[in-house]
Amino acid sequence: MAIICNEATKFFALETMNSTYAMQVGNSGELLHVCYGGKIDCTDDLSALTQRPDRAFSPSPAGQGRSNSLNVLPAELAGFGSGDFRMTACRVKKANGSSVTAPVYKSFRVYDGKPALPGLPASFAAETACRTLEITLEDLFSGVEFLLSFSVFDNSDVIARSVKVVNNTSETVEIENLMSFQLDFDHADFDLLYPQGNWAYERHIERMPLHPGIQSFGSVRGSTGHQYNPGFVLAAKTASENSGEVYGALLVYSGSYTADIQVDAFSGTRALLGINPENFCWQLTPGAEFHSPEALLCYSAEGLNALSAQSHKFIMEHIIRSPWKHAKRPILVNNWEATYFDFDDNKIYAIAEKAASLGIEMLVLDDGWFGERNDDNSSLGDWFVNTDKLGDFAALVKRINALGLKFGLWFEPEMISEKSKLYEKHPEWVLCVPGKRRSYARNQLILDMSRKEVVDYLFETIAGLLKEIHIEYIKWDMNRNLTEIFSAALPAGQQGEVAHRYVMGVYELHERLLQAFPDLLIEGCSGGGGRFDAGMLYYAPQIWCSDDSDALERIPIQLGTSLFYPCSSMGAHVSVCPNHQTGRSVSYDFRAALALGGTFGYELDITKFTAEEDRIIREQVAAYHKYNDLVREGRFFRLSEGFGRTNCAAWCWVSDDRQEVLAVAVCKQARPCSQEPFKRLRFAGLDAGKVYTLEDGRSFHGSTLMNTGIDVTVALSKDASCVMLYLKAK
Ligand code: DGJ
Repeated sequence: MAIICNEATKFFALETMNSTYAMQVGNSGELLHVCYGGKIDCTDDLSALTQRPDRAFSPSPAGQGRSNSLNVLPAELAGFGSGDFRMTACRVKKANGSSVTAPVYKSFRVYDGKPALPGLPASFAAETACRTLEITLEDLFSGVEFLLSFSVFDNSDVIARSVKVVNNTSETVEIENLMSFQLDFDHADFDLLYPQGNWAYERHIERMPLHPGIQSFGSVRGSTGHQYNPGFVLAAKTASENSGEVYGALLVYSGSYTADIQVDAFSGTRALLGINPENFCWQLTPGAEFHSPEALLCYSAEGLNALSAQSHKFIMEHIIRSPWKHAKRPILVNNWEATYFDFDDNKIYAIAEKAASLGIEMLVLDDGWFGERNDDNSSLGDWFVNTDKLGDFAALVKRINALGLKFGLWFEPEMISEKSKLYEKHPEWVLCVPGKRRSYARNQLILDMSRKEVVDYLFETIAGLLKEIHIEYIKWDMNRNLTEIFSAALPAGQQGEVAHRYVMGVYELHERLLQAFPDLLIEGCSGGGGRFDAGMLYYAPQIWCSDDSDALERIPIQLGTSLFYPCSSMGAHVSVCPNHQTGRSVSYDFRAALALGGTFGYELDITKFTAEEDRIIREQVAAYHKYNDLVREGRFFRLSEGFGRTNCAAWCWVSDDRQEVLAVAVCKQARPCSQEPFKRLRFAGLDAGKVYTLEDGRSFHGSTLMNTGIDVTVALSKDASCVMLYLKAK
C-alpha cells in the first residue's frame, strides 16, 4: 500500500494491493476524481481527465468560461447549489439561511495509522500497517472545513473513507447532508447488486442494469433494517462470481442511511452512501466537529468472490474487535423456538442437561426471563429476573455451569414496555413527540438512546446482572424501528440530530459493556437480521442472520449476507421441523449443511429428541468441531451464480494453505428426471497441481475439480437435498 502526493500538481493517489484510486484538484479548486480501478503508473500526467469541454446548459464557476462545469466533472465531495445538479455529497446551511456549499482544496497531510472516529465504529490497524491521506477542503461560502480521510492497509484492497466537518468560523451552521462515500464514473456500463428483503427474508441479492436517473435504497428506520443493507456493488455487466471488474461500497453504520446511484444525462454514474439526509440536520457550533460514519470501498478485477473475500478479510482484521473473532464459538442451544415464553427453571435446566449430554456447549435463555414478561406485551426495560418463573437464578446458572455449559442471556436494551416499572418511573424516556400520537410495534416503545441517563441506566442494570451472574454471552435484540423520532431532552433546533444520537447511544452502551466485560460474547439481533452491518460487527462478532430458520430459505439469506460479511459472523442454527416460519420439513443433514456454515447451534426442544435424533446431533456436533476452523478462517467461494436464488446452489471454503476444502451443494426442488439437468459441482480456489482426496477415497487434481468438477446429480435429486464434501490434499 502507498499514498502518492504531488504537491505541485495537487495530484493524490492511493495504492492498494491491486488498485489505484486517484484524485486531482481541478481548475476551480474542487477535488476531482481521476480514476479508480486496476493499478496505473501515477507518474503519468492524467490532468486531462479533470477537464471537461462546454456542455450546453451546464454552468461553470467564474473564470472557467464555458468549460469545466461542476455538473460534468467527477467530484470527490460534490457541493450543493453551485452548478452541480446531480445528487450531492455535502450541504451546510449558514446563519444567513443559504445552503450553497462549495468545498475547495486547502491542504493535505499524510500520516501512519488512522485515528478512531469518536463515538463511532470504524476500521482500525497498527500504525505500521496502514496509512492515511487527509485532504482538507474549505467551503467557499462559509469557511467551514471538510477533512476527507482515506486510509489504505497492508495486504488489502479496501480503502476506508470518512469525512470530518470542522466549524472554525464564528457562526453556528447546520449540516443538512454529509455523504461518507462518493464515487463518480464517466460511464454507466454497470449492473447494480444490492441486498434487499424483509423480515425473515433478509439480504436477497438483486442484480439489475443501471438506468438513467436515480436508483436509491436505504433506511429511515433509525436502524439498518431488514429491507436493505448499507452496501452495494457496481459490477461490469459481464462480471460473474469469478471474473470481471466489480466495485463494492459498505457503510460502517447501523442507523438510517441512503445509497444513491445516479446515471446522469451524459451517461456518467455517481454513487453516494452515507447517513440518510431525511430527518437529519446537525447543528455545528463554532469550534465543534462532526464525523461521518466510515465507508469502505473495494475494487476487484476478478469478480464477486474476490470482492467478498477482500471484504471478509477486512472485516475480520480491521472491523471486528472481539477477542472471539478467531475463536471457535461455543455450540449453543437457544430456548426460543423450543419454549417461547413458556418455561421455568426446571424446563431450562432440563434443556441444559440434555444439551450437555449431546456435546452442546452453551445454553442461551431467550426472551421472557425478566420482569413479568410472559408474552410480548410487558416488562421491557425491567431487566430484573422473574423469580416466580426462574427461582434462584444465580443458583440455576451455577447448576448449568456445573454441567460444563456456558450460559447466555437475551436482552432488548433499547426498548421499553408501557407495562413496566421503568415506564412508571420514566415515561419521559420514551422516544415520542410529547402529548401526541405515538406508534407501537410488538406493543413496545423505544427508549431515547440519545439521552445519557438512559444509557447510564441500561449500563448499570445490565452490568449489575453480569457482575452478579456468570453470563458469558448476550443476545442483543432490537425488535422494532424508530418512529416519532423526537427527544424531550433536546431543543427544537437539534431534533434533526436525534436519530444519529440514538445510534451513538447504542454504540456507547456496547462500548461500555465491552470495556467492563472484555470477554463478553455479544450476538447482535434485530428481529432476526434487521441490523446486520459492519457497525454492529465492531462490537458483536456474530449477528443472528434471520428469524427464518428454515434451512431452505436460509440459502439466499446466507449467500446474500456473504456478499460482504464473513461466515463466522452469521448466526445460524438447526431448528425444528415442521419449521415454525414456513411449515416445511427438511432433513437434519440439510439443516446442518446451512447451520454449519455459520456460528452453529440449535433452536428446538432437544428434551423431546428420540435416540436416533440424539445420534444425529452428536454427529453434527462432531462435524462442527471438524469443519469449523475451515468455515471461520478459510476463504469462502460461492460456486454458483445468483446468490442462492436459483434452484441449485453450491459454495465452499478453502484453507489458506489450500490443503483442506469443504464444499456444500444444495437442490431446493426436485424435478422429473425428464426435466432435470445433470449437476456438476465445480470448485474454486484450489491448488491446480495438488491432488485432493474425498472422504469416500476418490482423488482428483485441483485442476480437474475446478475446471471439470464432479457429478452430484444423484445426490441432488430430491426436494431439499444436499451434499457436503470434505477434501484434503496430499
Ligand atoms: C426476535 C429474535 O430474532 C428471536 O430470535 C427471539 O429472540 C425473539 N425476538 C424474542 O422476542
